[in-house]
This record gives sequence, C-alpha cells and structure tokens, in this order.
Amino acid sequence: MENIKKFFPIFDNNKGLVYLDSSASAQKPFSVIKAMDNFYMNDYSNIHRGVYKLSETSSSMYDIARKKVCDFIGAKSPSEIIFTRGTTEGINLFVSSFSSLLNEGDEIILSEAEHHSNLVPWQQIALKKKLVLKFIPVLSDGSLDYKWLEENISDKVKLVSVSGQSNVIGLRNDIERVVNIAHSVGAKVFVDAAQLVCHYKVDVSELDVDFMAFSGHKIYGPTGIGVLYGKAKFLRELPPYQFGGDMVDRVSYDSATFKDISEKFEAGTPPIAEAVGLGTAIDFVNEFGMDKIERDSLELTSYAISQLLKIDGVKLLSSRDANGVISFVVDGISSFDIGSYLAMKNVCVRVGKHCAEPLHLKFGVESSVRVSLGIYNDKSDIDTFISDLQKAINIVKGV
Ligand code: ALA
Repeated sequence: MENIKKFFPIFDNNKGLVYLDSSASAQKPFSVIKAMDNFYMNDYSNIHRGVYKLSETSSSMYDIARKKVCDFIGAKSPSEIIFTRGTTEGINLFVSSFSSLLNEGDEIILSEAEHHSNLVPWQQIALKKKLVLKFIPVLSDGSLDYKWLEENISDKVKLVSVSGQSNVIGLRNDIERVVNIAHSVGAKVFVDAAQLVCHYKVDVSELDVDFMAFSGHKIYGPTGIGVLYGKAKFLRELPPYQFGGDMVDRVSYDSATFKDISEKFEAGTPPIAEAVGLGTAIDFVNEFGMDKIERDSLELTSYAISQLLKIDGVKLLSSRDANGVISFVVDGISSFDIGSYLAMKNVCVRVGKHCAEPLHLKFGVESSVRVSLGIYNDKSDIDTFISDLQKAINIVKGV
C-alpha cells in the first residue's frame, strides 16, 4: 500500500529499512505504541480485583479489547475469546485441554505443512496418550490433498487441525472444505490462523470452525498476547489448562470450582496492556479494511513472484497464488549467504526452515529464504530486494 510507512515510526527511525519479515513479526503503528503508553501512564492497574476507579477503567479497557477481537473474527460472543500469550500458547492450551478428553487409538489429522507449533505439541501428547497422528499431504501446487482427507476421515478422527495459511507456502487453505469433511463424522476443526488473519478477513461463524488461534504481534499488535477462539459449547466442555487466581469461583482447602468461559482459561494476571494494544491494532487494520489489505497484498505478492521468477536459478517453495508469504531457494547458493548479504543492505528477510522442518525435508531443501509482506510494503521494497538479491547471486557466482 502507498504511503503507509508514515504510520510506523520504525521506518522514520531506520532510514532505508526494507522490512520483509512480517510473517515473523509485524512492525507496530504509532497508534498501538501510543495506546499502550497512554494506558500505562494514565489508566493502569490490575483488572477484576479492585473496587477503585483505576481498576474499573483497566477492567473495562480489557473487556473492550476482547469485544473488538470477537467482532474482528466474527465470534458470537466475547466469552468465546481467550487471551493467551500467542498462537503457540493457544495451541498448547488447546492440545492439553482437548486431549484430556481423548482415548487411546483416537486419531488427529494435521497437514504436512504445519508450523512446529501445530505439530510438536500433538506429537508429544500422542506419545503420552497413544493417539494416532495422520497428515494431509501437500500437493505440488502447494494446496492440501482434500481428496486424501475425504478418503481418510472416519469416526476414529476426533480433530482436524490445520493452518489457515502456511507460513512457508503462503497459500490459503480451503477451510470450509476441511470443516465440511471433518464435521461429516463429528470431528472438530482447529485452525492455526497466525498467518491467515493478517492477510484475509476471517469469520469463524461463517467458516464454522470450532477452534482457532492467532497472535497479536503479527497483526501489528504487541508481543505477549494472542487469542484462542472456541465455540462456547465446546469451550465449556474443556477442562482448564492452568489454575490460580481469577479463574476460580469458590475455593476451599480441599477443592475449587471454576468460573465460566473465558475466565476459566485465564489464570493469573493477564496481558492487560497488550490486550489494549491488540484492540488498537484491530482498529488500525479495520480502518484500511481487511478486503483492501487482502487485495493489495495479493497484488504485491504476485508482483514479487513475477520479479523473482525472472532471476536464473530461483525456485519457489511458495504457491504462485500465495498471499504475503514467498519462500524460495536459489540453485547452488546457501539461503544463509543470501540472507546475510541482504541484511548488509538493510533488507530484512527470514532464512532457515521457518519452524517447518518436515515441510523443507519434503521439498528436498535444507533451508529457504522467505520474504513476507506487511501493510507497509510497496513495489519499491520489492524492487530494492530483487536488485540486492541479484547482486548477491552475482557475487557468489563471481559474475
Ligand atoms: N511463526 C513465525 C514465522 O513463521 C515466527 O516466522
């Protein structure tokens, strides 16, 4: 998008910065920084504990943030929104709690393109509880093999847990199709939406997903806060994940009862200022509109891919229909050499396995370079990146 950098102080304070690593973490607009600053300077106290004015104000600001998240993802009630530390904690909370209701031999279906955070927690719990993990294959165009899912779904499957958009391939998965297939046997669907919510309008009620998680810091909010969404009736069936203050109803020396959702999943002092920051980040993206963000990001991604493919030796791991996330390798050149050269030129990309090692193995590569776009990127960022990438290749090849 044109001229959006002016809303992000990082660009004023780092002249010439070309930031192409927003899938790792997005930069913060002034409004988010200011909202958190103002909150700490004027309104801060702990929430739901004090009878004094500051605590009432803080509590109300925290509740307003929850309502903003609820509206942002189309949930039916703010009680369906649990604040976590991020996507990873949301997934761990869910895995721990949901798996406590599973039995030996129950099946969980993931995809071959999951981030480690939607893979390793399942591996660990599968070992402990003797669950069976299966993986939807990724096809050569980067899409999931939905036919495989149709053929492998059965009443043994209790959950299908997939990313809404891979952090390597960048293609949006057909979540509606996954939901239809899973629900046909009564299996639930969990969506890792860490990338999806940054690039597309997501409506959990329309999609009919049962659970979803995402992070604040990837949609221009602060670190230290994320969201776990669940349909109210299913969240109520899940046991709490952590225990302590603020999630209990009555406590004796021998026992305790717990509050209703969302509180029963939010033990201890929550990330209050971070919630205020996330609410402000949601206001920020809403001002542009997720439809426009999606359109502009698709256009810039397509431009970047077309420019990349003009360079000899570039091979995409991403789908050509990717949005905002472009991973690639260059024949005969280490991704780390490319990343280091770009870093010297103030061009920030991610190199490595992007927390998706099995997917890199499947693609037969050790590592890749990933360019990921934010709302502030424009064609000039891509042109600078392409020109510096070409220079890096020329140097390594001695041209
Ligand atoms: N999950 C983040 C990424 O893909 C950190 O870069």
